[in-house]
Amino acid sequence: MKMKIWDLPTRLYHWLQAGLFIGLISTGYNGEGPHIQLGLGLFTLITWRIIWGFIGSDTSRFKQFIRSPKVIMQYLRGQTDETTGHNPAGGWMVVSLLLCLFLQCISGLVIAGFTDNLPQAETWLTDRSYDVFYMIHNALFYVLPALIFVHVAAVIGYKLRHKPLVLAMITGYKAKCGAVSLRFSSNLKALLVLIVAVLVTMTIVAYS
Ligand code: HEM
Repeated sequence: MKMKIWDLPTRLYHWLQAGLFIGLISTGYNGEGPHIQLGLGLFTLITWRIIWGFIGSDTSRFKQFIRSPKVIMQYLRGQTDETTGHNPAGGWMVVSLLLCLFLQCISGLVIAGFTDNLPQAETWLTDRSYDVFYMIHNALFYVLPALIFVHVAAVIGYKLRHKPLVLAMITGYKAKCGAVSLRFSSNLKALLVLIVAVLVTMTIVAYS
C-alpha cells in the first residue's frame, strides 16, 4: 500500500534546484556564462522553499522534520518508528543544505553588486563585509559539493537497504508507514508563494 508524502511543488523544486546547482557549479570558476542568471533562479527557488517550510504541506514544513538531538540519536540507534517525511537525521541534512544554498545565493548577490543600492547598504556593505561575503561564497563553493555528496550517498545507502527515496521524490509516493494522515497544500498556493519569491528577486534586481 502506497501513500503520498511529497507534494508536486516540493518535487519540482527539488529537481529544478539540482539542475540549477549543476549549472551554477559548472559556470562558477570564472563567473562566465549564465552564472548570475542561474544564481537569481536558485535564489528565487530557495526563497520559495523557505516560505513553503512555514506554510506548505505537512512533510515540507520545518517543524515536521527539525528534531532534537535526542530524537536523532534514538533514530540512529534504530529506536524510533519509521517516519513519513524526512527522517530525523535527514531533516538536519535538509536544513544544512538549505542554509548553505541560501547563504551562497545571498553572498553571490552581494559580490555581484545587486545589494549596493539597497536602503541602508552603506551601513553594512563596507569593504570588510564585502570581503567576508566573498570568502563565504568561495568557501561554500567547496562545502556545498561535499554536503551534496553526503546527501546523495545517504540516498544511495537507503536504496541499498530497500528504501527507494528517489522514486518517492519523483512520484511523491512511498510505502505506507503507520496510520498518519498528512495535509497537503494546493498547487495554487505554491504558485502564489512562487510569485512572492519572484517579486522579492525582481525587487532586488530593480534596486541594483
Ligand atoms: C542526483 C542527485 C540527487 C538525488 C538522487 C537526490 C535525492 C533526494 C531525495 C531522495 C530526497 C528526499 C530525501 C528524503 O526522503 O528525506 C532529497 C531531498 C533534498 N535534496 Fe536532493 N538529490 C539530489 C541532488 C540534490 C542537489 C544537487 C541538491 C542541492 C543543490 C539537493 C538538495 C535537496 C534538498 C534541499 C532536499 C530536501 C527537499 C525538501 O524537503 O524540500 N539534492 N534529495
